[in-house]
Amino acid sequence: MNFFKSLACLIALVSAPLFAANTPNTPAAPILIQGAMEVEVDTMIAALQEKQELTVGAWTFWQGTLAGYPVVISRTEVGLANAAAATTLAIERFKPRLIINQGTSGGHDPALHRGDIVIGTKSFNMGAYRSDFTPADQGIDSRKWHNFDVTMRLRDNGKLVEHTSFAGDPELVGRALGMADRYQHGRVVAGIIGTADEWNRQVARINWLHQTYNTATEEMETSSAALVAEAYKVPFVGIRVLSNTDLHGEEFDPKTAIHCQQFVIDYTNALINSFNKA
Ligand code: 5AD
Repeated sequence: MNFFKSLACLIALVSAPLFAANTPNTPAAPILIQGAMEVEVDTMIAALQEKQELTVGAWTFWQGTLAGYPVVISRTEVGLANAAAATTLAIERFKPRLIINQGTSGGHDPALHRGDIVIGTKSFNMGAYRSDFTPADQGIDSRKWHNFDVTMRLRDNGKLVEHTSFAGDPELVGRALGMADRYQHGRVVAGIIGTADEWNRQVARINWLHQTYNTATEEMETSSAALVAEAYKVPFVGIRVLSNTDLHGEEFDPKTAIHCQQFVIDYTNALINSFNKA
């Protein structure tokens, strides 16, 4: 291939819109769908056709197809470090066209109930804090801690950029919200997802987090996967069902994980349909 042909290919690749048709003869870039725990991926794995399982390190991926289109299901395992590792491996190995991080979460917004689904307009690392100096006799007051931005380098010019949060891809968010009437187990709303290596059950703290950061729900992976997606410029969306909310005494219900996966399968089929039409 000569220089101009390579340049033209590069420009076409870089500027390819999310819903552009696949070029004939090139294998389609897969959709990557993530879930942390077995119960958050099993329904999707069962729906996958032409399955092949691959384990790299501690992380397992199932390659296959949905509606004839390549899809990779990733069991990320729990927590930020696992989510980042699994996302990096998946992007390097499978070069996904987009990433859906889905699964269970705990409600922060009193308007939401168990079974409702939050489509992440953005996610952030809710557990990263710095505190101002106070002497030993002043005790501990976590309400005075400040959330820590994440600093990342731009791959083009190496400049450092601060991220207070990671936005969900607007088109992917809009399409997920557009499917609200297809979901029978609760509401589907837009909201902010707070990610931390934490499971908060102190209602005063949940209320404080909601009032301070406007969080709709908390969980342990989304913003970490979103960070890696941002580094590689892969479109990303977080889809989280409330499996529990201490604001209403609604404890963890594993059926919500199945319902969330069914919604995501429906959503993925709709995305595939629109690729085929493009
Ligand atoms: N707080 C934190 N994580 C939660 N999860 C479900 N509910 C909550 C909650 N209230 C999810 C996390 C993690 C696993 C323990 O369950 O994302 O993967």
